[in-house]
Amino acid sequence: MTDAFHAGSRRLHHIGIVVADLDAAAERYAALGFTDGDRFAVPEQMIEAITYHAGPGYVELISPTDPAGAIARYMAKRGEGMHHVAFAVDDLAAELADLAAKGVRLIDEAPRSGAHGWRVAFIHPESCNGVLVELVQE
Ligand code: CO
Repeated sequence: MTDAFHAGSRRLHHIGIVVADLDAAAERYAALGFTDGDRFAVPEQMIEAITYHAGPGYVELISPTDPAGAIARYMAKRGEGMHHVAFAVDDLAAELADLAAKGVRLIDEAPRSGAHGWRVAFIHPESCNGVLVELVQE
């Protein structure tokens, strides 16, 4: 592989996994070696989550706390599992403007606040081969 391949132009930031039972999922991930999670609630999104360090990135377990929330509705339709992939960017607003100009379908036209003080925005799966993609500026 070339040096350019190794350098890459994007860094995988985290993957988001939807789980029905956060305590049970935490036990399972502890068995996989994930023990130092940061657990937090996001009431306005009706979720509770745990973020684990995974190398230079993170794994995030996300669980609905109210059946009316978007994650609960997602889980009712699609079940547990991979929910989104996030990539790190340096300038989120500039990236979004660039993507919009390229005709990419954005869920968030502007950066918004995410967990841990991160600035985040989502790209519609329709523009990413069926994958919900999140961009994160730390
Ligand atoms: Co995320």
